[in-house]
Amino acid sequence: MTAVLFTCAGQRVDIVRAFKDAGATTVAADLDPLAPALYHADRAVDVPRVDDPGYVAALADIVREHDVRLLVPLTDLDHAILARARDDLAPALVLLPDAETCERMSDKLEAHRFFVESGIASPRSWGPDEVPDDARYPLLVKAREGFGSRHIFRADDPEQLAFFLGYTEVESFVQERCLGEEFSIDVFCDLESRCLNAIPRTMIQSKGGESIKGRSIRDLELIEHGRLVAETVGIKGPANIQCFREPDGTLPVTDVNTRFGGAFPLPLAAGSAYPELALALARGERPETRLGDFEEGILMTRYFSEVCLRRDGDGALVPVVVRS
Ligand SMILES: Nc1ncnc2c1ncn2[C@@H]1O[C@H](COP(=O)(O)OP(=O)(O)O)[C@@H](O)[C@H]1O
Ligand SMILES: [Mg+2]
Repeated sequence: MTAVLFTCAGQRVDIVRAFKDAGATTVAADLDPLAPALYHADRAVDVPRVDDPGYVAALADIVREHDVRLLVPLTDLDHAILARARDDLAPALVLLPDAETCERMSDKLEAHRFFVESGIASPRSWGPDEVPDDARYPLLVKAREGFGSRHIFRADDPEQLAFFLGYTEVESFVQERCLGEEFSIDVFCDLESRCLNAIPRTMIQSKGGESIKGRSIRDLELIEHGRLVAETVGIKGPANIQCFREPDGTLPVTDVNTRFGGAFPLPLAAGSAYPELALALARGERPETRLGDFEEGILMTRYFSEVCLRRDGDGALVPVVVRS
């Protein structure tokens, strides 16, 4: 059994469980003892904050102690740090692209510039002082390092734009608002950035930046777009690519997350086998590409769930077993 360490495990019970189902021993790390995923892993471990100078050393100790062979970060918080610490975390495979790629994709203005240089469509975007007179309103003021749909404001005219640029609390940029339908593509690449699969889905409903209802679609243009973007960006392991289909037929990319997407259970149910692919990479295998091999029309609809805990005699938090 391969031991897998999940960092910043948070609420990603879905991912921990899927790796367990794929035959892994799961080790979950989170700073917060109330992170629900800790209680769904085979083992839960304490770690310092990601910005603590001892973060990598603490993870390296966990890798040794639990014989971890694969490290999967579940939020955006520690990608660049872990990508730079690959050697310290060996023999565990850090399932991330290079640090520069992580950093480039986490800054949406940098990502935009990269897309333009690489010939990938992206909504016209500018730094706060660079917005031209012919910019098409409504414009969006967006956080450069945003997540969860936070710090995004719609400006309908230059006056509102000036207001929101002054109002926002985080470093921001300006982007034209797309007009078409939004799609999300969950891709998985091997360690040479060969795209093994790309599974597009519709965004039927999102709440607080998370897709809560969606449907897998066999849209050949989106599958090929996901592959091209993933391979051009240099993805290794999972990524989530967000784009719009515009009236002029272009597919501008707005966001690339270098981790499993928020709607992970949907591609999984559609047959992604992404946990199995990740475990194969950790064993040093080179899986075949299986682009487009998934079931279309799978619908996902999400709901809240919970873990209830009590302190045992030693002060540890243990799940309450409810007897009927
Ligand atoms: N250029 C855009 N045009 C239209 N909608 C956008 C645009 N950029 C972002 N959005 C909307 O805001 C949501 C969050 O934006 P995104 O760039 O994905 O940031 P994050 O997910 O990191 O918060 C998107 O899923 C989309 O619905
Ligand atoms: Mg997004």
